[in-house]
Parts: sequence; C-alpha cells; structure tokens
Amino acid sequence: MRPIFILHENEEWVMPLHAEFAQRGVEAQEWFLDQDYVAFDKDPRPGVYYNRMSASSHTRGHRFAPELAKMALTWLEHAGGSQVTVVNGLRALYLETCKLSQYAALQKAGVRTPKTRAVVGREQIVVAAENFAQWPLILKPNRGGKGLGVMKFDDLDALRSFVDSDQYAEPLDGIWLIQQFIQSVEPFITRCEFVGQRFIYAVQVDTTGGFELCPADICAVGDAACPVGETATVATAKFVLSERYHGHSIIGRLETFMRNAGVDVAGIELVEDKYGDVYAYDVNTNTNYNQAAEAAAGGRVTGMGAVADYLIALAR
Ligand SMILES: Nc1ncnc2c1ncn2[C@@H]1O[C@H](COP(=O)(O)OP(=O)(O)O)[C@@H](O)[C@H]1O
Ligand SMILES: [Mg+2]
Repeated sequence: MRPIFILHENEEWVMPLHAEFAQRGVEAQEWFLDQDYVAFDKDPRPGVYYNRMSASSHTRGHRFAPELAKMALTWLEHAGGSQVTVVNGLRALYLETCKLSQYAALQKAGVRTPKTRAVVGREQIVVAAENFAQWPLILKPNRGGKGLGVMKFDDLDALRSFVDSDQYAEPLDGIWLIQQFIQSVEPFITRCEFVGQRFIYAVQVDTTGGFELCPADICAVGDAACPVGETATVATAKFVLSERYHGHSIIGRLETFMRNAGVDVAGIELVEDKYGDVYAYDVNTNTNYNQAAEAAAGGRVTGMGAVADYLIALAR
C-alpha cells in the first residue's frame, strides 16, 4: 500500500480522520502547510495526497497557506503518473478560494445558484448594488470561510452606511460578492456531503443563530471565532442528518458538477426557497463532519470514515 499524506493547516480538523484510519489499522502522514518549501527540482514520494486546505486558513494565522498549497499541488500534479495520486487537487483548491468559480461550475452542471455580482473597490459596492434590484441582498467575500464577513442588507441605505463605516474591512482577495438573498421557508440550510464524487449524506443546519456554519465538532466548543454554539449541546441540535434530498434530482447534478470540476470530496451548501427551488451557494472542498449528528442518526455512516475508506482504496 502506498503512503497517504494529508495536506492541511489545522491539526484539530485532522484528528477525526486519524481516528478513522486507526480503526482501519492504517497510519496516515501529514504535510502541514503554513510555511514550508516545495522542492520542485525533485520528485515527490509516491503516495496518495489528500488536500484539505481551507479558505478560512487566514483566520488561524495561516495567511498564505492556500498559496503554499497551490505550489505543493502544482508539484504533485506535475509529477503525477501512476505513483502520485492527488485527491482534491489544484482545481478543487481554486474553487475553495473563489466562490464565483464555484457558481460557474455549478451552473454548468445545471445547478441553480443565487444571482451574484463580483465587485472590487469600496466605492463600487453601492454602485453595483444600485441596479441589482434584489433586496434584501447578501454581501460576502469571494474567498470566504466559516461565514465570516457574510452580511445581509435590506436596502441601499443600510449597505451604504456599512460601506462608509469604520467596520468596513477589505476582504482577503479584495473581491466582494453581492448576492441575491434566498429566503428559505424553514430556518435551515442543507449541506450535502460527497466523498469520491458520490453522495454520502445530507445534514440540516439550523440558521437561526447566524451565518457562521462550520460543522466541525471542535468549532462547537472551542473556537471563539466560530459561534456555532456556546455549548456542545446547543451545537449538537444545530446539525441533524436529513433525508430531504435523497432521491432528489439535485444530487445527480451535484455529482456531475464534482466530476466536471475535478473535486473528489466536498460539502455543498443548499438553500431552498418557497417555490421549492434549490440553490447551491457554497462548496467546501475542505469539509468537516459533525460527529454528534452522525451518532444521533445511528452512526452507520461517518463522513471521515468514508474519506478514510476512499483514500485507503486509492492507496491500495
Ligand atoms: N445567498 C444567500 N441566501 C441566503 N443565505 C445565505 C446566502 N449566502 C449565504 N447565506 C448564509 O450565510 C452563510 C455563510 O455563507 P457562505 O456563502 O456559506 O460563506 P462561507 O464560505 O464563509 O461559509 C450560509 O451558510 C447561509 O446561512
Ligand atoms: Mg458556507
């Protein structure tokens, strides 16, 4: 069996995956990508390389981790061949850090996405919103993460006063998205999990508490920047496995999207409006799973278990 390498920048998110490997008698290695070098003058070691770089790395002080991951994946994919397998390669990383590209790829696969405009320049935000005619609207960074900086505005005045205020801060890559707000009938979004480009399960996430929706169990208790819940109990009820989209045509379209876009593992967030139209608005190629929700559903399927099985099969 070839070795398995996990490329990442957040130890806590990798621990549940190591536990699944351990249960299967396998030990995976890590490549921690914050600051390091990529020896493009040499060949990489044979192995399966699983990229878990996250768009929110800057919130953990790893400002240039995605840029380093880009170098690493370029090197690994260039080596390629039968000995080096990359899971969630360069194209997945590109989507992870660019929501507009997600929407382009989703639409190509027949998946509905909210009407969106990309804006660079503080003065341009109000200009772009003026004739957008979709109120309320969402303003969010193109390179997102954990819902940080995602805001809803009811009218132009509210948007203008935010843009003119001291609270205004440029997004990481300078790109804002102005987006149609999809009003869901029930107060939740659904996150569909895919491993090896195949649907695993969907989890329903309660949105009444706000916009930051990282399902990682660790965020539920420790991460001050992620108000998923003050206590583990609150967070547990917030994530519930759902059969809502089992057998729904959206699943096949999302699998097509993943095949076309070269994404192997992802959690894709959906919101449904009062007409029953389903919109995809966020693709997380670095996906986390809520273990409490999995356990509450009987524990038959675990996201990280599916990832471990998939990587082991590739390594063999
Ligand atoms: N167009 C939208 N309509 C309704 N709610 C939205 C929309 N975009 C984002 N949200 C809400 O904000 C949350 C965070 O937005 P998202 O695009 O997923 O950003 P991030 O990449 O930071 O997770 C979503 O989970 C959802 O609850
Ligand atoms: Mg999201």
